[in-house]
Amino acid sequence: MLILAIETSCDDTSCAVLEVTGGARSPKFAVRSSVVSSQIKVHAPYGGVVPTLAAREHVKNLPIVFQKTMKKAHVKMKDIDFIAVTQGPGLAIALLVGIQFARGLAYAYGKKIIPVNHIAGHIFSNWLLDTHVKFPLLNIVVSGGHTELILMKRIGDYKILGATRDDAAGEAFDKVAKMLGLAYPGGPVISELAKEGNSEAYALPRPMIGSKDSDFSFSGLKTAVLYLLKKEPDIAKNKKKLADLCASFEQAVADVIIAKTLKAARLSKAKTVALSGGVSANTRLRKQLQETFKRELPHVTVLIPEKNLTTDNAVMIAISAFFNKKTARSWKKLDANANLTIEETS
Ligand code: KG4
Ligand code: ZN
Repeated sequence: MLILAIETSCDDTSCAVLEVTGGARSPKFAVRSSVVSSQIKVHAPYGGVVPTLAAREHVKNLPIVFQKTMKKAHVKMKDIDFIAVTQGPGLAIALLVGIQFARGLAYAYGKKIIPVNHIAGHIFSNWLLDTHVKFPLLNIVVSGGHTELILMKRIGDYKILGATRDDAAGEAFDKVAKMLGLAYPGGPVISELAKEGNSEAYALPRPMIGSKDSDFSFSGLKTAVLYLLKKEPDIAKNKKKLADLCASFEQAVADVIIAKTLKAARLSKAKTVALSGGVSANTRLRKQLQETFKRELPHVTVLIPEKNLTTDNAVMIAISAFFNKKTARSWKKLDANANLTIEETS
């Protein structure tokens, strides 16, 4: 089976062709092609994603990305079995570009469309290499728009255990980077600088680390950095101090994410814990999450996606679509849903 997937929920225009063999119970996935066109340069001057510009770039780039993807996969539309497309959550006008493109292809070539929840997509980025995942599966999704602990008792059964009450983890990286005069997106820049820094140099808060619930809050941490910069404005200009602050900030975010995930894993008796979303590209978080579980809950399997599948991509949308085939529908019955929740996803 061949699935063509399209992802335009934020600032990456992406298509992929995924080949699935081996049947429904034991599928094997092979990425025939995957193309991601990043809009970073367009949004960087604004320090964040500008929705109207994102949509305009998707309109311009999607036909090119689609053609490159098909060419690299050596397939024609007649060979494709299903079209998968991100339905939401995301920026409404950005999602619409992918949805309308998918509808057009489905109409022209008589194909069915599988709508995919973007968060489910991130979750399934961990399933590319091995689909024999043991349940309960606890997902920690950390991206620019989301920070959520999601329990899966089986495929299609999602329960949000907790979420951020304010900023998402990636958003905190981006906002702190902006305060420090660093480029957008902040996550990769901060983590690169943090490599040379001392993570204990600045005492930053770990908001809600000990709270009983599974919620998160990152705005207080961001404000703590702001006050620190007001008190010591030379930090941003001093190479050593900047590296120390980046490392201290990154460690604070990682500590909260890891502590909350560990607690939720214990409470939910998870057999597998899976990290995903753009912030899962963070080396410190990847390493320390693995080390913590090895030490504290060694029987729990920890899944972490390959780095190229951490930020937005269409491969994860195709994998998720495979497990959601029963929702395949005609081009007439598809709309974007910018506020789609994971619990609405079957
Ligand atoms: O999943 P994603 O591509 O888009 C959303 O669905 O939001 O995540 C993008 C987010 C950005 O906030 C970016 O700063 C963050 O992921 N990010 C990182 C790293 N790479 C990307 N955060 C921390 N460390 C990284 N290495
Ligand atoms: Zn995402």
